[in-house]
Amino acid sequence: MNQTLLIKGGRIIDPSQKIDETGSLLVAEGKIAWLGKGEATPPKTDYEVLDAQGLVVCPGLIDLHCHLRQPGYEEKETIASGTKAAARGGFTTICCMPNTNPPLDNQTAIEYIKAKAAAEAVVRVLAIGCISKGRKGQELAEMGEMAAAGAVAFSDDGEPVLSSHIMRQALDYSRAFDLPVIDHCEDTALTEGGQMNEGVVSARLGLRGIPNAAEDIIVARDLALAQLTGGRLHIAHATTEGAVELIRRAKEKGVRVTAEVTPHHLTLTEERVIGYNTNAKVNPPLRTERDIEALIQGLNDNTIDIIATDHAPHTEGDKLCEFALAPFGISGLETALGSLMGLVHKKQLSLATLIAKLTHEPAKILGAKQGKLGTLAVGAPADVTIFDPNLEWVVDTKDFASKGKNTPLVGEKLKGRVIATIYQGKVVYKDKTIKLKQR
Ligand code: DOR
Repeated sequence: MNQTLLIKGGRIIDPSQKIDETGSLLVAEGKIAWLGKGEATPPKTDYEVLDAQGLVVCPGLIDLHCHLRQPGYEEKETIASGTKAAARGGFTTICCMPNTNPPLDNQTAIEYIKAKAAAEAVVRVLAIGCISKGRKGQELAEMGEMAAAGAVAFSDDGEPVLSSHIMRQALDYSRAFDLPVIDHCEDTALTEGGQMNEGVVSARLGLRGIPNAAEDIIVARDLALAQLTGGRLHIAHATTEGAVELIRRAKEKGVRVTAEVTPHHLTLTEERVIGYNTNAKVNPPLRTERDIEALIQGLNDNTIDIIATDHAPHTEGDKLCEFALAPFGISGLETALGSLMGLVHKKQLSLATLIAKLTHEPAKILGAKQGKLGTLAVGAPADVTIFDPNLEWVVDTKDFASKGKNTPLVGEKLKGRVIATIYQGKVVYKDKTIKLKQR
């Protein structure tokens, strides 16, 4: 049942409407019913009250890039567990990658995700279809059928599209549906056997490196193909100074490109791998301070449009092995906001910019077809995230809703914590400290 709920006296930050002030929000029948600034009170109705004093109230967070592992790898995650993790992390819309088993490369697979999500998800799940059949990079998948079934983008994420010809075709065809092609940029000729960022640390640890150039080369190629075709290119998990510079220049020329960066690539360096910590093994790898500075600058000057988690859950067994055998990936939905708030506390990013990169900006990439997302505008779906920007907490994977406990942040103190997540007017996550009062 949708509740009628007054979220009272919080700091409302909604970049879509350029709002950053104290006020209250009334949620009714699954929609934003009223937004009042200052002490304003809503038109009379019966409602429950959530006291948001001292808390930030913003549009529900949107994650354009996560792995839900279903079908095929349900031991790592399911739509049920992954969406619960999303709710705990403040996300009300998540887009799932198609590197499942079988891969999401046809209409039936997209319909399966929709049906599973309708039955089991606690937040909105949007499916991303493959670029190529079987993610093999050889033949285009049925992009039109998948678009008609509701796919919101195309990607072979986890693998690059090595054929320039197939990438050209994908960018060309995707124009017909006005959907982005999400690009995993990795020249595998340079990354074969690579375990971590190539540099002093990899040399010291005796691990084969993955150079920045492996990313930069494919970014450069696909920017050229986006320019050639006029297709919409979205660069997934950008990690290098060079990629940021290439995207910046392409945007100046008017190429249709957007880009994302993950919380871990913004906050952690390659040093995390020291001790052969398999939970810090991720692809692309954690890079250097210099790359992080460039990524943050890229966010601030809008070269990088959004932050996406690349939530990549694996089992403890998967990661409890020698470094070279461990799969790549970090479980990220539940630590994203806390990690990113560190950048706000260090004044590297404003709170409004951070929220824009997690709400209004990804909503723009998804486009109007998905309805009014990433906004607290009256009439929009009541997707709302409430968080305490100053509450400190220690990451304990026992509390995770995700099956993936694979995070290098175990035991770390983060400052900034989700207090409640509301999806279509329903409280889908609430910290135990929160009590709802009858008016
Ligand atoms: O670290 C990663 N894990 N990078 C990817 O590109 C794929 C992902 C996964 O599916 O585990």
